[in-house]
Amino acid sequence: MISIKSEREINLIKESGHLNYLTHELLKANLKPGITTNELDKIAYDFITAHGGYPSCLNYEGFPKSICISINDEVVHGIPSNRVIKNGDVVSIDFCVLKDGYQSDSARTYIVGDATDDVKALVENTEKALYIGLQEIKEGAKIGDIGAAILEYATDHGLGVVRELVGHGIGTEMHEEPDVPNYGTRGTGITLKAGMVIAVEPMLTLGNKDIAIMDDDWTIVTQDGLPSAHFEHTVVVTKDGYEILTKE
Ligand code: MF3
Ligand code: CO
Repeated sequence: MISIKSEREINLIKESGHLNYLTHELLKANLKPGITTNELDKIAYDFITAHGGYPSCLNYEGFPKSICISINDEVVHGIPSNRVIKNGDVVSIDFCVLKDGYQSDSARTYIVGDATDDVKALVENTEKALYIGLQEIKEGAKIGDIGAAILEYATDHGLGVVRELVGHGIGTEMHEEPDVPNYGTRGTGITLKAGMVIAVEPMLTLGNKDIAIMDDDWTIVTQDGLPSAHFEHTVVVTKDGYEILTKE
């Protein structure tokens, strides 16, 4: 069952999403060569809890930290550690915030310092692909329209689209129905209705789209070792479009 959120619920997700946004801004300000991923994790935990939220990746199915930090060939679900951020790293930060019973989910990828033009294009085009997908959203559109637009954009720009991980509905739970794949066929899949809240999250690769899981049972990496990028927003479907809820 895909739930339609009430105005009250949408406002609560927006509050959660605002805290999510502010946390991303704080992490961005602290993301520099020399900082460890554990230090970033602690900054997020302290800030979210100080503002009445809970970083809901923490202990989610055993995930041991508050946020996911995935570097270079790591696609998603990287576990913060004593790893030191270096110049040239491609750093994806992804996390959920639970506040007053409602979840929000957002991800961003940064290049720390210098990178090749290829890597810059990967990151810029992954963010662009998120917005290309979001532009499909409105009451009456199909879930397949989102994925088709993302896949087409990524393919046109020579990037791979990870298939095994998908966006999702979100609300009182981090992952609700429906799945929101980053590939698909226009005119197929469930019909979007005003009040549905979904997280759209393209994960694009510079090389081959194929992934593997590391021995920690969490970290997803590209099989070819090339970098990937990830951008995500939580949005509500409206009559004639969408509204981003993980924002200022
Ligand atoms: N945004 C991630 C997702 O939707 C959050 C995962 S939290 C984790 O999969 F604990 F599973 F890492
Ligand atoms: Co998500």
